[in-house]
Amino acid sequence: MLDASLAPATGDGERVNPLRAGIESDRITDPCSIVFFGASGDLFKRMLLPAIWALRLRGILPSGFALIGFARTKYSDQEFRDYCRQQIDAFAPDGSKPQGELWESFAQCLSYITADFKQLTHFQELRKHFEENDKRFGTGGNRLFYLATPPSVFPGIIEMLRRANLDPRNNEQGWTRVVIEKPFGTDLASARALQKIVQRVFGEHDVYRIDHYLGKEPVQDIMALRFANTIFEPIWNRNYVQSVQITSAESIGIEDRGSYYENAGALRDMIQNHVLNLLALVAMEPPVSSDADAIRNEKFKVFSAIAPPRHEDVMSMAARGQYGPGIIEGAKVPGYRGEPDVAPQSNTETFAALRMSIDNWRWAGVPFYLRSGKRLARKISEIVVTFKPIPHRLYGESTDAIEPNMLVIKIEPDEGVALRFEAKVPGPKSHIRSVFMDFNYGTGFGFHSPPAYERLLADAMRGDQTLFTRWDAVELAWEIITPVLDVWENTKDFTFPNYAAGSQGPDTALQLLAEWRRL
Ligand code: BG6
Repeated sequence: MLDASLAPATGDGERVNPLRAGIESDRITDPCSIVFFGASGDLFKRMLLPAIWALRLRGILPSGFALIGFARTKYSDQEFRDYCRQQIDAFAPDGSKPQGELWESFAQCLSYITADFKQLTHFQELRKHFEENDKRFGTGGNRLFYLATPPSVFPGIIEMLRRANLDPRNNEQGWTRVVIEKPFGTDLASARALQKIVQRVFGEHDVYRIDHYLGKEPVQDIMALRFANTIFEPIWNRNYVQSVQITSAESIGIEDRGSYYENAGALRDMIQNHVLNLLALVAMEPPVSSDADAIRNEKFKVFSAIAPPRHEDVMSMAARGQYGPGIIEGAKVPGYRGEPDVAPQSNTETFAALRMSIDNWRWAGVPFYLRSGKRLARKISEIVVTFKPIPHRLYGESTDAIEPNMLVIKIEPDEGVALRFEAKVPGPKSHIRSVFMDFNYGTGFGFHSPPAYERLLADAMRGDQTLFTRWDAVELAWEIITPVLDVWENTKDFTFPNYAAGSQGPDTALQLLAEWRRL
């Protein structure tokens, strides 16, 4: 059964909705067995399982498919199937409930191993499951490992895969790939140590490092906006661009992730990966082709052109914050230090803002402002390219502000692109005011973008690495933020908490830039 709203609008005599022109259904993935390490955890039930189920509903999973849960919680196969059904019921959107024949046949492909990640025998059992799946479901020897566990156990799991002969070199029948959730390391040293372990077992072309922002449709559209049009690229440089602002703000707090977040903070959790990846897509040169490595080469070059700040410059190019109590959507919420598993005097930042420069021909002198934080006024991710002011004023009354042009790439919750320009206000006087040309995916294509995890899971099953991060770029991203991490960890911020939940963030961010776009 195909979700009608996602079906391509083609076929003889069928009325084609012009908004849907060009929308095709996705290519079916390769047959495979996918194992989720950490299948009893939060990520699996909220994101991964609903995404797999959606792929099944959309007809993107092949008939040769099987899913293995591998986690500590004790389940029989049948209990795991019941658990999956409940979670899909709870977390999949309306209209995609697990029921009927489709669910029954899907449930048959689910199995479970109650496992200790340190027990070699459990990994040997996994090998047997793969072999049985190949015979029973025709999964063709193809194996996908998905590490959806806390990062502390990544190295141990990868080492066990090697010891159980589950590495790609020991699979003569099909492919073997590994998907690694973020964070890839907790700092530069641990990321390098993890990479050492990974590369002993997998080649780089077998490794799919997830940054789910790259799977968001408007993020994929950044390259299309730039390279499938002629009008933007000529002005996409230091001659016309005044500054770039990248924001990823959230109104949620840390939820029940206190123990993770205490050791992470906004810089590690969002800037090192999601926000820097957005920066790379905005700033990169046109790739020589749309091939995964051609694109990733260009992203790598952007990071190579960003010099990590000197320790003594961190104070002037970075600002941090931590939320105190406040009001979100009319309800009182506690401050960060009052959240479960957070130290009463915690120095962890829940807000980070940076000013970066890209030292290359295109961007010399253009500041890139990045910010991300929890418990801000609202959830919004966007990129704002502000162009230079007009060189000479001809229009407008003296009291009119003539704002610079601005291109806003809206990632969420709105998805689209808006262009701000100045227009004459109708009437006898020559008043000038800003107006917007506004494109939204929903109205433009009559189509809701599938969640990022659907796209990313399908790509990993198809062997397309374009939307996954390559080690060389991950390493540089850590190098870029390391001096800021060092300074922030070694100096206590006595002003914390320095912004109220539900606000625009700390005043310290205004020292970097007075005109942050209002959240
Ligand atoms: C995750 C972070 O990577 O991204 C979370 O660990 C954050 O802290 C989340 O809430 C935000 O993702 P999205 O897709 O809701 O913007």
